[in-house]
Amino acid sequence: MERRSVILGTGSALPPTIVTNAELEEQLDTSDSWIRERTGIRERRIASPGVKTSDLAFEAAQAALLSAGLTSADIDLVIVATATPDDTFPATATRVQARLGIARGAAFDIAAVCSGFIYALTVADSLLKTGQFQRALVIGAELFSHLLDWEDRTTAVLFGDGAGAVVVEARIGDRGILAASLHADGRHGDLLFVDGGPGSTGTVGKLRMKGREVFRHAVQNLASVTEEVLDDAGFKAADLDWVIPHQANARILEATARKLGLPIEKIVMTVDRHANTSAASVPLALDIAVRDGRVKRGDLCLLEAMGGGFTWGAVLLRY
Ligand code: ACO
Repeated sequence: MERRSVILGTGSALPPTIVTNAELEEQLDTSDSWIRERTGIRERRIASPGVKTSDLAFEAAQAALLSAGLTSADIDLVIVATATPDDTFPATATRVQARLGIARGAAFDIAAVCSGFIYALTVADSLLKTGQFQRALVIGAELFSHLLDWEDRTTAVLFGDGAGAVVVEARIGDRGILAASLHADGRHGDLLFVDGGPGSTGTVGKLRMKGREVFRHAVQNLASVTEEVLDDAGFKAADLDWVIPHQANARILEATARKLGLPIEKIVMTVDRHANTSAASVPLALDIAVRDGRVKRGDLCLLEAMGGGFTWGAVLLRY
């Protein structure tokens, strides 16, 4: 039996304010039908002014600890995947760590945009398996509404705010992470980026995207990384109980399912209610599917994402 990183609990946090497509129609040259047909999105959550990324991350972390039956005293590693840190530094993970009352172990952020949670979970898996850390909180938290150009209909309608978290521990047994794979190809950095930052313009910047090209790469990359982790662990797509993908666009999820020969019912979809919450979307979708009873202990689950960079990756795990 091998030592594997097992998800002990999940949690999530969403701002209470719902913004529907109809509300966006009032401020942009767009329509509910265009947004639904092209993306599957019906509504998104947008945080109120004053709410920070660490507030959502903290709330999701607390929910994950509760569901794991643990307290912050059990955690010695905090990783936050985010493209919208509270401050340029210190890492948002250290803000969350402090609010949880943890003053030992390590805490750091990971910047891989929409793939951030997959990157963070893979890094946590490596660190936990060495025995260097005992238990990790891995969090994806984003306030993407702060990065949007609210006059650009081609991007403003696509994103939302939220956070998701998991508690992970390495244990000897059959359950846990079976395979993981991370990729990046920086040649495509200008297809999806934010046009500013502390190290260039000194501003926060706004999100810019060539959506059609991103779409094409996403379907291809997500299908190939999925096959890679399935092959690594000796499984076939048909063995999967659930796919918990990054929630960018319902059409990307449908196309990926078709490419893998999987029925759409096996794909957990939350993009209709949350839109694209970047690094938060995979742990948010996982938490929802665990809480509504779909994902059960022992299920074979695939987590996958692709985002700016491009970065992409997948984690195959027995929940
Ligand atoms: N409302 C109405 N019309 C719009 C809107 C809008 N919100 N946005 C664009 N349009 C128009 C365009 O201007 C264009 O008009 P034109 O034909 O007169 O020029 C027309 O709709 C078609 O635009 P396209 O960009 O070609 O539309 P497409 O079918 O490619 O859909 C979309 C656009 C939804 C962005 C799609 O390309 C997509 O989802 N791409 C993936 C991007 C993504 O999800 N990125 C997130 C991060 S990466 C990731 O997570 C995978």
